[in-house]
Amino acid sequence: MAEDSKRRVFVSRRIPENGLERLRTLCDVDIWEGDLPPDRETLCTRAAGCHGVLSMLSDAIDPDFMDRVGPQLQVVSNYAVGFNNIDVEEATRRGIRVGNTPGVLTDATADIAFALLINCARRISESERSVHDGKWKTWEPLGFIGLDLVGKTIGIVGLGRIGQAMARRCHGGWGMDVLYTSRSSKPEAEGEFDADYVSMDELLTRSDFISVHCDLNNSTSGLFDASAFQKMKSTAVFINTARGSIHNQNDLAAALTNGEIAAAGLDVTDPEPIPADDPLLDLQNCVVIPHIGSATVDTRAAMADIAAENVLRALADEPMPHCVNP
Ligand code: DGY
Repeated sequence: MAEDSKRRVFVSRRIPENGLERLRTLCDVDIWEGDLPPDRETLCTRAAGCHGVLSMLSDAIDPDFMDRVGPQLQVVSNYAVGFNNIDVEEATRRGIRVGNTPGVLTDATADIAFALLINCARRISESERSVHDGKWKTWEPLGFIGLDLVGKTIGIVGLGRIGQAMARRCHGGWGMDVLYTSRSSKPEAEGEFDADYVSMDELLTRSDFISVHCDLNNSTSGLFDASAFQKMKSTAVFINTARGSIHNQNDLAAALTNGEIAAAGLDVTDPEPIPADDPLLDLQNCVVIPHIGSATVDTRAAMADIAAENVLRALADEPMPHCVNP
């Protein structure tokens, strides 16, 4: 492609160099270099006139954004597997292709879910804080008593790729029984994990640990509210590495404070970042980490490759590696 006919692409945060290099071979690339996401005005202004946008999950890609970028916009490639930040229906209506990065972050995200699970069960963050605070005086026969995992029941909400990777860790590694809810039953997974497809109510009441791996959509927004937490065992642990809006944060804080459930581990919150004065941050039985599910060197590099390839293929009018338009 001649220099002056290069397509313009805006990348809304710096991503690993392999992805940027790939884009630069064929496109004129503008990158937002800030440590924080661009504010709305900057996002719209910098993307205006571009043919492609490589977006982050923190960017709202809505009709107003599409209007302001202009009718030449051909592709929005999200640097994430989730794409709830993009109005895909509207993009499709306008002929804008939307890409995501599934597959490559499955194990990294399941690792973080499992790390949170074992952290909450064995009170690792809580006990570490006590060491840092100078409170470790002696070996305690009754100190920091936690929960065993082996032989317990894990309830998985959403048995897609990441849910299955979590089930594999829990069942194969720790001998846990697996219950799951999903859009439909997954007979092949039932074979691998000896898993039972159950109703949400049954999952809530029978599970010792619950891990959320579903998409955020109209039917999962606020799925874990006061009534869901009340149905859970008082010894249960709740893990969410999917999207923060799937749980109601105030209801979760109340359930943890009132002893309706034992502990929670969150890689995702609503909003992100969680405000410093959020009640969850005062609770010893709640572990919050800053949305790092996919944050490994190999995973982020693989995401960068796919996100760049999604842009290049769409601009060349070829099939994208991962397109989410219906
Ligand atoms: C995703 O990809 O959707 C994760 O939440 C962030 O890596």
